[in-house]
Amino acid sequence: MGRGSRIIVVDFGGQYTHLIARRCRELGVYSEIVEPEGVVAELGRGDVGGVILSGGPRSAYEPGSPTVDLGAIVSRGLPVLGICYGHQLITRLFGGRVSRGRFGEYGRTLIEVIEHDSLLEGMPRRFNVWMSHGDSVVEPPPGFRITSVSEGGVITSMSEEERRIYSLQFHPEVAHTEHGMRILENFLRRICGIEPWWSPGDRISELIEEIRRTVSEDERVICAVSGGVDSLTTAILVSRAIGDRLYCIFVDHGLLRKNERENVEDSLRRFGVKNLIVVDARRRFLEKLRGVSDPEEKRRIIGEEFIRVFEEEAGKIPGVRWLAQGTIYPDRIESGRASRAAALIKSHHNVGGLPERMNLKLLEPLRDFYKDEVREIARRLGLPDEIVKRHPFPGPGLAVRIIGEVTEEKLEICREANAILEEELRRSGLYDGVWQAFAVVCDDKWVGVMGDRRIDGYIVIIRIVESVDGMTADWHRIDHGLLERISSRITREVPGVTMVAYAATPKPPSTIEPC
Ligand code: XMP
Repeated sequence: MGRGSRIIVVDFGGQYTHLIARRCRELGVYSEIVEPEGVVAELGRGDVGGVILSGGPRSAYEPGSPTVDLGAIVSRGLPVLGICYGHQLITRLFGGRVSRGRFGEYGRTLIEVIEHDSLLEGMPRRFNVWMSHGDSVVEPPPGFRITSVSEGGVITSMSEEERRIYSLQFHPEVAHTEHGMRILENFLRRICGIEPWWSPGDRISELIEEIRRTVSEDERVICAVSGGVDSLTTAILVSRAIGDRLYCIFVDHGLLRKNERENVEDSLRRFGVKNLIVVDARRRFLEKLRGVSDPEEKRRIIGEEFIRVFEEEAGKIPGVRWLAQGTIYPDRIESGRASRAAALIKSHHNVGGLPERMNLKLLEPLRDFYKDEVREIARRLGLPDEIVKRHPFPGPGLAVRIIGEVTEEKLEICREANAILEEELRRSGLYDGVWQAFAVVCDDKWVGVMGDRRIDGYIVIIRIVESVDGMTADWHRIDHGLLERISSRITREVPGVTMVAYAATPKPPSTIEPC
């Protein structure tokens, strides 16, 4: 193996599976997540240099629990690393014993190394790891050696070095495990023998080449751009590949952040995108939204109207065969899952229905990348930091940050309050350190007194959250001096606001956006 080999991470439904794949990529080895049934087909591609078995919620000894053809992997001489459920599955498949422990171990746990095999090489004798398990290995398979145990006497790692099979009860991929990256690095370098070779920024010319090969010379591509880094990066890559056969459509639905339209126009022009169609649909959207206060109804109207406007504009361009989208890796994985399990919390806005309706083929150059990797590509392409590091912004825009009916007055307040918040956070250096920060306009009023006169003004809620992926989030414990500056600037500079409040509820039980 060596340079160019990839790692496959077999997904048994563990909450950290994505993190394992990301960590391998951070260590310079390209890795992909694969369903257990897909492993044999992947091995057939000939470039797999090692296999990691992820964690999962099931018990390895339960009938019907997920499994994998370990024989097919091992008979090819490929190294295997099992993590948590993977550790227990290896035990079961090779003839050891797993059972429900007297007690589970969750969170930080001290372990002791008994034997330094290639996986634990360089580790101190005792260190803290992150555990999350109810079941444990009580008897390793024949030929396996126990290499570490926890304070509670649980077998925390084992190996069979001859066939290069290793397993861990704890999670090396989470930040709370000390030396976790070293352990993964040992697996990739020492055991699989793969040198770091992969960096998303280095893939740019390959990506451009692939687009060129995919789109034939008489075909045109349309791309819906927003102010976000994913769609802008997509547009720039496609434009580099096929030049003026790309048509970018930017729908200004009036629910954008301050100066967003100008910023997008500027960036695309600077990057040589020639065919940029900006549709001013502000009035159209506002009219459709008049009198509507139900959050799902607002989202539905905006989604539908967006598709309608987009179709109208695209219909004017002859020879369009492709729709370029800024879909990224988690979007793909998530949508595969969402259809199986997830309950509807909010109907997220995207242009997903468009390709079928318009009979277009899909071009998704960023489909294999994580958000931070897209950011690296964007940076390498030369996009400025204000765009690269900008917080996520929902498709339906400020409409989901306005509670109740969307009116011109509330929109103006929302836009201005958000601009002040963003400016203050950038000034204080906090902006890049949090997941999202925004201002919400409420439907109810708060009585105010200004210059001896009573006025009924709007309530603005500031929400600043910390999160890794938007699935869960905590509220940011804001410095009171900063909060005071934000609050007093909003009441002073934005007419019609009489109260500023701060949101102090995590997700769950709240969601991040209010609607
Ligand atoms: P919630 O409010 O569901 O948000 O906790 C989770 C993350 O998703 C973003 N969000 C959206 N993103 N289209 C998007 O592309 C949408 O319709 C949408 N609604 C919410 C939200 O900003 C947060 O980062």
